[in-house]
Amino acid sequence: MTAEINNYQLKKEIEELKKVKDAIILVHNYQPLEIQSIGDIIGDSLQLAQEAAKAKSSIILMCGVKFMAETAKLLSPQAKVLLSHIEAGCPMADMITAEELRDYKQQHPDIVTVCYVNSSIGVKAESYICCTSSNAVKIVQSIPEDRNILFVPDQNLGSYVAHSLKRKIDVWKGYCNVHHHFITMDDVNRVRHEYPGYKLLVHPECPPEIVEEADLVASTKGIADYVAANDYAIIGTEYGMYEQLQHRYPQKHLQPLSVNAICKNMKKGSLKDVYTVLRDEINEVTIEPEIAKKALKALNRMLEI
Ligand code: 13P
Ligand code: SF4
Repeated sequence: MTAEINNYQLKKEIEELKKVKDAIILVHNYQPLEIQSIGDIIGDSLQLAQEAAKAKSSIILMCGVKFMAETAKLLSPQAKVLLSHIEAGCPMADMITAEELRDYKQQHPDIVTVCYVNSSIGVKAESYICCTSSNAVKIVQSIPEDRNILFVPDQNLGSYVAHSLKRKIDVWKGYCNVHHHFITMDDVNRVRHEYPGYKLLVHPECPPEIVEEADLVASTKGIADYVAANDYAIIGTEYGMYEQLQHRYPQKHLQPLSVNAICKNMKKGSLKDVYTVLRDEINEVTIEPEIAKKALKALNRMLEI
């Protein structure tokens, strides 16, 4: 294959490899549009996990970040799971280690730990139950009122859940840099002024003062569902979500809340990388069986709810 191969040829080659290798490609909503164009499923973390759980393919190629590929491997252990770019991680997931969580649990032996799926396998293994941004409220609600809860690692999602349920929850001080620092109240004030009548849709990883201003707080799937049914919206999450929706619905009136909210990790892979990863079956994700067993329990508890 020559270096000048264009995207059209790459897509054809990838489609061919998918058939020959019995592979499925799962793509997160924040991925570049060229990668979304070859996805079998494009969705939020929960959708990708659910698709991985029911996948029968020999290979799952995850175009997203590491925790998403690890989740797919846990739920589909028989498949070879590949990650589109070996260095695509989630810095928030690294804001708590399994050791730190173990220490916290030792000091608070009665605590029930709920971990956001944006976490390491080790942290999942130390947690009682997992959640995603689309089901976090429901998951916490399933825990009896008299139990004390620690929510890790995202302080903003944890605070949003606590506020929604009017329940006291201990929250770890992690955050997503993209939502926490690159979406600001100045952005909110500007779009409210420039686009009156537009609904403000924000991801719960945004800080509380922004969540408070929103007309809808939802996962990336929730945001996409709203836009499918409505014509005027401000997209308050990573910029790739706006790009996807703008591409899907060019006739609708959509604006990004912040053009600076770009997740560098989600943009690491290219179509060429996807092709190479699938062709050479590189970037395979493996998980130590003992940890996998424990982490899977937390994930399955979530999927049962
Ligand atoms: P979603 O599950 O809403 O797609 O969010 C994942 C994520 O990483 C948000 O930053
Ligand atoms: Fe992680 Fe934030 Fe990127 Fe989502 S947007 S993958 S939480 S760094």
